[in-house]
Amino acid sequence: RVAELAPHGRQMAPYACQRRTPLLHSNQPLTEALETLAEEAGFSGSEGRSLAFTRAASVLKALPGRLGALEELGSLPGIGEHSRRVIQDVLEDGVCAEVERVKLSERYRTMKLFTKIFGVGVRTASRWYQEGLRTLLDLQERNTKLTRQQQAGLRHYGDLNTPVERSEAESTSRAVQEAVKRFLPGASVTLAGGFRRGKPRGHDVDLLLTHPEEGREVGLLSRVVSWLDSQGLILYQHSQENSYGLREGPEPLGGRDVMDRFERCFSIFRLEAQGGPGAPRGWKAVRVDLVVAPVSQFPFALLGWTGSRHFERELRRFASRERKMVLNSHALYDTRQNLFLPATSEEEIFQHLGLEYVPPAQRNA
Ligand code: CTP
Ligand code: MN
Ligand code: MN
Ligand code: MN
Repeated sequence: RVAELAPHGRQMAPYACQRRTPLLHSNQPLTEALETLAEEAGFSGSEGRSLAFTRAASVLKALPGRLGALEELGSLPGIGEHSRRVIQDVLEDGVCAEVERVKLSERYRTMKLFTKIFGVGVRTASRWYQEGLRTLLDLQERNTKLTRQQQAGLRHYGDLNTPVERSEAESTSRAVQEAVKRFLPGASVTLAGGFRRGKPRGHDVDLLLTHPEEGREVGLLSRVVSWLDSQGLILYQHSQENSYGLREGPEPLGGRDVMDRFERCFSIFRLEAQGGPGAPRGWKAVRVDLVVAPVSQFPFALLGWTGSRHFERELRRFASRERKMVLNSHALYDTRQNLFLPATSEEEIFQHLGLEYVPPAQRNA
């Protein structure tokens, strides 16, 4: 049984970063049900419960075949009582009543609608829900106070919730590349995020900028963004300066959305339509994240920005619990030896951690 479930006859490893998780897997109905409950738990502020469902879903994504019977769960790590019940329901009836109830609930539907606005997180959505707001029209009619980012998110709601195709990601990358070339020849632009993991479409385009000579990348981003803006390519942008120094020491970067301190730009591009008959209009709004990393930190940035989010979380948890190391998108710090472990590639980071290398296409945990 175990040999049948686990690749190479091994038991499934407990951390997602020790496993290979392809984009396509055979347990879609099960993972969808579990991820709905994970999302709903997140909407209720139950981070622990949310993580438990996410972990269970992630384990099923790494199975080499379809889970046929409940007994097969016995050999798998990280599947709790509640997840087990959900899996049983879906295996037996094709659906899980609890999940169906959640999907139909007014709160879940409203939270989903609101959190899909660029710049709106669970806290804001939750507050609006409690104030009785239910629709996007409600937000406008009741003059809800919105940040500039949320206003842009609302204005481009339709486009931003239409998946970005790979071809669109590539043409965005080319546009940024051309701008980069004008100001800093030799600098590189790397497509990270879901597209690097092989996803055919995504919710945004994640681009990493660097230059082979440390320090040359400083000041690049603002020039690139200004130029793109002057060409009419930018509908919204919000830049942050680099706030990272190794002097700060190895403490993990806390906070909800602050995963690193690189110079960055959260933006919305005005992307010319790829042509094709029946295109409703000439352009589409696309979310783009631009991040600049000094070359010495680039492998860490690349690893951190390739995801998936769960894979990243598991990498950091593995590093800290199993290796007493602190991993973030800037560096890897060994707390036993009190030193930073440099790397020139993602492979080296896995080596430092004593992990088998997992290529991007297998990080879809
Ligand atoms: N990330 C980050 N800091 C942020 C936002 C994202 O480090 N403030 C990292 C995440 O860890 C993730 C990667 O950037 O691994 C990509 O995030 P995101 O674009 O949200 O997800 P994708 O996996 O690219 O999926 P999608 O197709 O939905 O964009
Ligand atoms: Mn992305
Ligand atoms: Mn996403
Ligand atoms: Mn992103």
